[in-house]
Amino acid sequence: MPAQSNPQMEPYARHVIVCTGGFCSPGHRGRELYSLLAQLLQREDLLFGPRRIKRGETPCLGVCSDGPVMVVYPEGVWYARVTPRLLERIVVEHLRDGRVVDEAVFHRLDP
Ligand code: FES
Repeated sequence: MPAQSNPQMEPYARHVIVCTGGFCSPGHRGRELYSLLAQLLQREDLLFGPRRIKRGETPCLGVCSDGPVMVVYPEGVWYARVTPRLLERIVVEHLRDGRVVDEAVFHRLDP
């Protein structure tokens, strides 16, 4: 039996996970952010090529307050109280230009 080859994929520069659960942001505002994130990534040309971003959602990130909450890897930078306006800054400044939006960060992985 021939050996199976591994799946092929273009690498991602970053991975963004958005909490779309209802405990950190009643009204499920995270869901709106998740949809808006797709639009912003497309607008900033971050869906394909070497800078591309993988977007994911989860029902909970274990914070459960001060949401919507999202995290960006590989930096391990966590953002709280993400509004549509802040999300736009995160996409442009962090995901596109590589500058973390420090004033909105509430947690970072240890370096
Ligand atoms: S419900 Fe969003 S962090 Fe738990």
